[in-house]
Amino acid sequence: MNDKIVIITGANSGIGKAAALKFAAEGYRVIMACRNLKISTAVQKEIMEMTKNTNVDLMELDVSSFDSICTFSTAFKAKYPHLDILINNAAYLNHGEKEYKLSPEHIELSFATNTFGPFLLTRLLADHLEKSQDPRVLNACTTNIKNFFDPKRKIEFDNLRGELRETRPYSVYKMYGDSKMALLMLTFKQAEEFKSRGIKVNAIQINRVKLSKETIQKMHSIWRVFARLQNLTNPQPSGMANNYFHICTSDEYKNLTGQLINHKREIIEPSTAETGLAQLKNIFGNKTYPSYATNPQNVEQVWRLSTTLTENF
Ligand SMILES: NC(=O)c1ccc[n+]([C@@H]2O[C@H](COP(=O)([O-])OP(=O)(O)OC[C@H]3O[C@@H](n4cnc5c(N)ncnc54)[C@H](OP(=O)(O)O)[C@@H]3O)[C@@H](O)[C@H]2O)c1
Repeated sequence: MNDKIVIITGANSGIGKAAALKFAAEGYRVIMACRNLKISTAVQKEIMEMTKNTNVDLMELDVSSFDSICTFSTAFKAKYPHLDILINNAAYLNHGEKEYKLSPEHIELSFATNTFGPFLLTRLLADHLEKSQDPRVLNACTTNIKNFFDPKRKIEFDNLRGELRETRPYSVYKMYGDSKMALLMLTFKQAEEFKSRGIKVNAIQINRVKLSKETIQKMHSIWRVFARLQNLTNPQPSGMANNYFHICTSDEYKNLTGQLINHKREIIEPSTAETGLAQLKNIFGNKTYPSYATNPQNVEQVWRLSTTLTENF
């Protein structure tokens, strides 16, 4: 039995569940941070039975709600002495959604769940991470950010509260990609901020993984067909869960911080050219990410916004 403690958000399905299973099988103390306790209790039981690890805890967390994040973080700190690993895995992507959906704090739901939620959670847990010998944070990113190789692509900062909902049609994919790009920028910036405290913050660029039955069930009908077809060739979540485990536990990544890592566990570099042949390599390869992510003005804008929105929590 390992006394290392790991929090995994959205651990009741897909990659999060596979990661909870992997960490539990390796003897870690696993905290499944999930919003639906009824569904997640059955998953917790299944993981404990499969791994014979009784140290699998389930705690309520809605990552899109700042209040819920505060309640979770207070409850976690009261219960556990330190935190070794935080995996910000949960995300909002409702395929086919056409309406603006807002979080309890009136922030567009992709940004609330995929960007500001993980930012606040990491910030609130930093003092507990600092008590670990080897604290690591991993943020789940996506190849969708490749859309930012298009020089015209920008984050819609003017529309994060649905301000333009009357005039700008909602695109769940655009908001998803924007929110994950912002998460990547926060990964870089939080890595810098936490360096002196020994906390390492990285992101993983997930390409494609089989979706769970439960996730497909939540989709609009036509999307279910696409998802089932894609699932025929997509790899199982366990492969990506092994990547989470390796990045968060191995000596190879012990001193790594402020990096984006691809599905082959290689470090991805910012692109240096975004036209012609170089652009084709960017788009079809897995070795570069858009330079938009490291532009100091863009990073500063995301950082300031995240700090301002969460300052009272
Ligand atoms: N699968 C892929 O091909 C792929 C590709 C690129 C990136 N990713 C990324 O990989 C991560 C895992 O994705 P997945 O494919 O495993 O998806 P998934 O099976 O749909 O899992 C998403 C998890 O997030 C949880 N979640 C959503 N909103 C939440 C909230 N507000 N509070 C707490 N939990 C919340 C869901 O809980 P509920 O069950 O309660 O909804 C679910 O447990 C995500 O960050 C995703 O963006 C996946």
